[in-house]
Amino acid sequence: METPRSVNDFRRIILFPLPFQGHINPMLQLANILHARGFNITIIHAEYNSPNPSNYPHFTFKPIKDRFLEIAHQLPTNRNGAYFVEYLNKSCVDPFRDCLAGMLAEPGEEKVACLIADGGFYFTQAVADDLKLPRIVHRTSSLGCGLAYDALPFNSIKDWFYLTKEDSDYEASVPEYPLLRIKDIIKMTNYPQSMGDFLTNMLNQMKASSGIIWNTFKELEESALETISQDFPVPSFTLGPFHKYFPASSSSLIEQDRTVLSWLDKQPPKSVIYVSFGSVAHITESEFQEVAHGLDNIGLPFLWVVRPGIVIGSEWLEALPENFLERMGDRGRIVKWSPQQEVLGHPATGCFWTHSGWNSTMESICEEVPMICSPCFGDQPINARHVSEVWKIGVLLEDGFESVGIEKAIKRVMMDKEGEEMRERISCLKEKLNLSLEEGGSSSQSLNNLVDYISSF
Ligand code: UDX
Repeated sequence: METPRSVNDFRRIILFPLPFQGHINPMLQLANILHARGFNITIIHAEYNSPNPSNYPHFTFKPIKDRFLEIAHQLPTNRNGAYFVEYLNKSCVDPFRDCLAGMLAEPGEEKVACLIADGGFYFTQAVADDLKLPRIVHRTSSLGCGLAYDALPFNSIKDWFYLTKEDSDYEASVPEYPLLRIKDIIKMTNYPQSMGDFLTNMLNQMKASSGIIWNTFKELEESALETISQDFPVPSFTLGPFHKYFPASSSSLIEQDRTVLSWLDKQPPKSVIYVSFGSVAHITESEFQEVAHGLDNIGLPFLWVVRPGIVIGSEWLEALPENFLERMGDRGRIVKWSPQQEVLGHPATGCFWTHSGWNSTMESICEEVPMICSPCFGDQPINARHVSEVWKIGVLLEDGFESVGIEKAIKRVMMDKEGEEMRERISCLKEKLNLSLEEGGSSSQSLNNLVDYISSF
């Protein structure tokens, strides 16, 4: 009779994140979670945006040559995220295969249990199949986003992307996923064909994988969880939010300005508008100026993260309206990068004006901070619709960056009764989230299931 295998028979897991902050953070958090459950960890990573191995002495890091620098200069002006990821899906194939095959051929007792690869690295399924290694997908977005992407007929909706506000269909719901309107789809990309191709590849290879790990929790997306197995007929694991398993981790690629925390200490409770649009979005000079006018006019304290290069054509703050910094004085702070999780957890933070990246959305829910959403591309419009229409814990700025709308939105969240109701709903979600992480809770149980599943390979 075969003896049952324990975790120790298959001790190493290999992880492969996409080289962008919003993907590296949750992957390294996941690596920490699995390491704490007895697995050894190897991170194969691209050279571009390479994580700092000295922050993770307990992991092994293996860099591969991605050739990303050949096209990286296009980042600020090319708003087609799919283009960069498609490039990586080609340029990484050979170096990744060589690296993985080399590791599997290494002599020694230790066996590799599986590969956990970012969903965006869809090429890894074929490599894993060739090497007979199970591949589990790490999807950094919500279940709702997975279902929406799978429902949208990207090949037949290319024409929508050319509609404008003047067209009667612009505000119409998308029949295949009625939470989204055509105008939300238009925000996803400027290049529908390449986005459609990329998503089709990603979704097909998610379905061909051995399972999918989502950084979400059951109680947040109960109905999506009920239907996910129809679209993705492989085991799904919802063990999020990953960042709550450990204190704020150090996977930041940019140095975080921690002086903001002492500035926040001096502000009244729930008074500060925290503004950040994540690690990849770019905005135009006029959008940047609208943000500045909105913050100028509203008169409340604010902490604004202006990532160098976020404004197309600017190094940093050159495009600010005249005398903005003088008018701002000590009422505001502008920094290049913040310790976001701590900022959101600070009692002075009253709302989060965000681009609705999935990590930012989860971090905001965890700290009970209602949101103002200015989604820029990709999954962000989907997240923003969930925040404003499903969970009702924030408002969506329909015109993105337009100062009149901005002031109204800030008032709704910071000053109106509606904002108090959002706070109540988000506190309720936070309570459910805490329970999900406790022993026997849904996320904790899902993690146990994942560990058992990996051990069964
Ligand atoms: C992108 C997509 O937008 C996101 O939806 C997808 O799921 C992952 O890739 P990004 O745009 O960077 O990510 O946004 P987000 O997912 O919110 O991740 C940003 C991360 O950077 C967060 O973990 C946030 O805490 C961190 N951050 C952001 C900082 O540490 N400091 C800052 O000043 C701003």
